[in-house]
Amino acid sequence: MKRTKISTIFSQPELDSTVDVMGWVRTRRGNKYVQFVALNDGSTIRNLQVVFDMAKFSDEQLKAVTTGSSIHVKGKLVESQGKGQTVEVQAEELEVFGTADETYPLQKKGHSLEFLREKAHLRPRTNTFGAVLRVRSALAFAIHKFFQEKGFFYLNTPLITASDCEGAGAMFQVTTLPLNDLPKNEDGSVDYSKDFFGKSTALTVSGQLEGELGATALGAIYTFGPTFRAENSNTPRHLSEFWMIEPEMAFYDIEDNMELAEEFVKYCIRYALDTCRDDIEFLAEHYDKDLISRLENVLAQDFVRLTYTEGVEILEKSGRKFEFPVHWGTDLQSEHERYLVEEHFKRPVILTDYPKDIKAFYMKQNPDGRTVRAMDVLFPAIGEIIGGSEREADYDKLLASIDERGIPMKDMWWYLDTRRFGTVPHSGFGLGFERLVLFVTGMTNIRDVIPFPRTPNNAEF
Ligand code: 4AD
Ligand code: MG
Repeated sequence: MKRTKISTIFSQPELDSTVDVMGWVRTRRGNKYVQFVALNDGSTIRNLQVVFDMAKFSDEQLKAVTTGSSIHVKGKLVESQGKGQTVEVQAEELEVFGTADETYPLQKKGHSLEFLREKAHLRPRTNTFGAVLRVRSALAFAIHKFFQEKGFFYLNTPLITASDCEGAGAMFQVTTLPLNDLPKNEDGSVDYSKDFFGKSTALTVSGQLEGELGATALGAIYTFGPTFRAENSNTPRHLSEFWMIEPEMAFYDIEDNMELAEEFVKYCIRYALDTCRDDIEFLAEHYDKDLISRLENVLAQDFVRLTYTEGVEILEKSGRKFEFPVHWGTDLQSEHERYLVEEHFKRPVILTDYPKDIKAFYMKQNPDGRTVRAMDVLFPAIGEIIGGSEREADYDKLLASIDERGIPMKDMWWYLDTRRFGTVPHSGFGLGFERLVLFVTGMTNIRDVIPFPRTPNNAEF
């Protein structure tokens, strides 16, 4: 089919040419002489005005052109007479692909985001979700562009795994065993040797461990794929299935890691501002007046770098009553992170050197014996957007840390081999893709920045 995208019509209008536009009708209005249709084809937030001269079309033909119906119009592109648009199409031929009757759920503008979550199969046809999904797509491209231009290699890590990278134990089991008739060992435990993979497996919480295998061979890699967490956190910032970008670099210390993280997120934000201006302006106007200034602000400023210990001191001295009390050794909550970023420093913060007991086994241990070379990047409105670290490259220290946490050693043999054979200093981090999309779009609930969210008690669509 020969189709002219509406985005092309607005960006390179060829006046007096004949165009074939195809899309979904947003609205139709007019009188018995002339009818105006606002057409959207998903290529841009902007609707194209199609004008039907009713001397050429019958009422019967136009009757099928209702909100939600899909049509093809052949017509002439002309300068618009009316206000609100630069060009419009004078219809010459009309073809209706599919009708939509009055039960089409998106009749009016201005549905609530909660209502639209229940209509997630259709919400991409709204202005808001069209904008969010286009921004999401642009950000995904920016991510590949950034790393490819830097000579990083895209590494695909497995989704089904037998190891728990973050050690949080919040994994979705993968099994083909019959759940109501499980094979048992003599001691009553499940006999996983009978399972599909001959062992217990789950969906991955992170591709990092395999990423380290890639980095210690190719030098610098990045992953970009889905990750799964079975934690029961019903918050506006957690999904059970989310996308993560995990770069991993040999010969990088924690300083190099922080520099890369800052450059990377700034690059993505800049890219979105440059390529999705219409969409971001729409979102700013409708949801968050401060959106663009917040984005520009993050680009203009250096991120603050300070240690966890310094951060906790600031929080303790703040005199603020937090819901979760804070003292050295506690994991920081979003309210603490946001206090540091939004009220104390008023710009993004990279917090480093966390207590080792609240961080994962693979992080490089500091000489103080209490902290590890972790880094979390904290953002306004979001809290933690990136988590990463320099990795423990020393075989014995890594072994001790695995031992201390009681992680089954036999499962880790392949990971330990990176430290046994040609170990190198190396670092990496993970960016939660939806948290980046949240930040750039100004949306406030993570369920609204992924097409089909997976959260506790929700796997519809
Ligand atoms: O801090 P996390 O758990 O770190 C890791 O998984 C490391 N293996 C990363 C690495 O060093 N390669 O997760 C990284 C990021 C978080 O900062 C957050 O942005 C996002 O992933 N994230 C989530 N996003 C949505 N829903 C969830 N349930 C998330 N959990 C983490
Ligand atoms: Mg984290």
